[in-house]
Amino acid sequence: MNTEQKPEAQKHYNISKEYSVESALRRYIRLTVGENASLFSLIWHELLLGFCLYIPGLPGLAIRNLLYTICFPHFHRKAYVGRQVTLRCPRQICLDSGVIIDDEVQLIATSRHPHAISINKDSFLRSHVMINAGSPEGFVSIGERTGIGQGTILYGNGGLRIGNDVLIAGHCFIVASSHAYEQTYMPINQQGYTAQGITIGNNVWIGAGVTILDGISIGDNVIIGANSVVNKSVEANSTVAGSPARQIKRTT
Ligand SMILES: CC(C)(COP(=O)(O)OP(=O)(O)OC[C@H]1O[C@@H](n2cnc3c(N)ncnc32)[C@H](O)[C@@H]1OP(=O)(O)O)[C@@H](O)C(=O)NCCC(=O)NCCS
Repeated sequence: MNTEQKPEAQKHYNISKEYSVESALRRYIRLTVGENASLFSLIWHELLLGFCLYIPGLPGLAIRNLLYTICFPHFHRKAYVGRQVTLRCPRQICLDSGVIIDDEVQLIATSRHPHAISINKDSFLRSHVMINAGSPEGFVSIGERTGIGQGTILYGNGGLRIGNDVLIAGHCFIVASSHAYEQTYMPINQQGYTAQGITIGNNVWIGAGVTILDGISIGDNVIIGANSVVNKSVEANSTVAGSPARQIKRTT
């Protein structure tokens, strides 16, 4: 992964305006199955997930593994999905060999990006992780052998790239977007949002409860202390901590 890569220029979106004319049913189909999906694919999706979602234990793992691999084009036959895992727009989710998704994770791939969520070889997500690719064109890509701790929330609106051998502890908040707020005559919730993207390099350890703001780049071999708020990019081979995060050590 090229961690020197600068986040793309800031984009501005106003989703509520863009989709203001769609019906409630069309919106439900778009959010659940995909932008151009039919009513038939919604019914098929709900029957399949309704059947698979709650089966416990090993039989559940085996049945989901079999049916999801048949129905979703980018699920590897050696990827395992736990019980009550929410899958929105699963045809845009790529799970590589050895990926483990623990119980009650949410994978929301509602985006125009064809591979809105991609999780590479031998990576794992602990329970209650929430990944939202982010409308209209966001994505989250997770490298190989990367682990995400319980309750961590990742949004990919401007693009969130996470490298190989990354450890993200529980209850982190990494969101590649921000609310637009400059127009003081208008409520913030009507101003849309801005998105630049976040890049996290290889061999990074992110401590518990860390928040990383949009537009940030984290280099390779970085440690981020527990409960830090990262509002500036972090150079490779360093340890940062605090709110706002400041360098406390260099490893080379
Ligand atoms: C970042 C961390 C690895 C640094 O450990 P360390 O190298 O032993 O660093 P030290 O304890 O020597 O601390 C060095 C300085 O940074 C400060 N510091 C360390 N961690 C900090 C944190 N999370 N927030 C704010 N300041 C921190 C220390 O107070 C110390 O400051 P001082 O020199 O003014 O006294 C560790 O403190 C940490 O936060 N680990 C994450 C633990 C975690 O989240 N585990 C979840 C399971 S994966």
